[in-house]
Amino acid sequence: MLYPYALITHLLCAIAFIGVVFFEVFMLEGMRPHLGHATMEAVEAGLVRRARQIMPYVVGLLFLSGAYLGYEQFSASGLSWSNSLSVLLSIKIALALSVLAHFISAMRAAGAGCMSSDRFRRTHISVFIHMVLIVILAKSMFYFTW
Ligand code: HEM
Repeated sequence: MLYPYALITHLLCAIAFIGVVFFEVFMLEGMRPHLGHATMEAVEAGLVRRARQIMPYVVGLLFLSGAYLGYEQFSASGLSWSNSLSVLLSIKIALALSVLAHFISAMRAAGAGCMSSDRFRRTHISVFIHMVLIVILAKSMFYFTW
């Protein structure tokens, strides 16, 4: 039975990903006024370099384990608009794919050297809002039924 291992892996990767985004939105953005433009850009460049080394593995494992969990859930419940779990899980997956698109686009922009400070900030706020909705959906799909 692979499900519990995939679920724990999924949760640990989600914690790591959400933790990084939380740090960037609430800690780093709060430091922006005190650090000055040049220092902030240097910190962001360092963070992006580190993220490019670690995050592809975290995100890869998050989506691989998620794909397996999703496959098992849809196999059990079926894909139907009349099934609340199937609807909420589909919205969660759509939001997760949007996060993936943000992530790939940010990594490519950083690789090409065109990740400005403003784009860095906007990307993180958008990804953070996605994450909050994903976590709410991940839990409510088992409790809110119609
Ligand atoms: C940004 C990407 C994602 C994040 C942050 C995320 C986050 C989470 C979280 C926090 C949970 C609750 C785990 C728990 O409390 O036990 C969860 C559950 C789940 N996720 Fe994801 N997820 C993501 C992507 C995906 C994808 C792409 C899929 C499917 C293709 C998926 C399928 C599932 C399923 C089926 C569950 C329910 C597992 C269960 O409780 O039995 N997730 N996710």
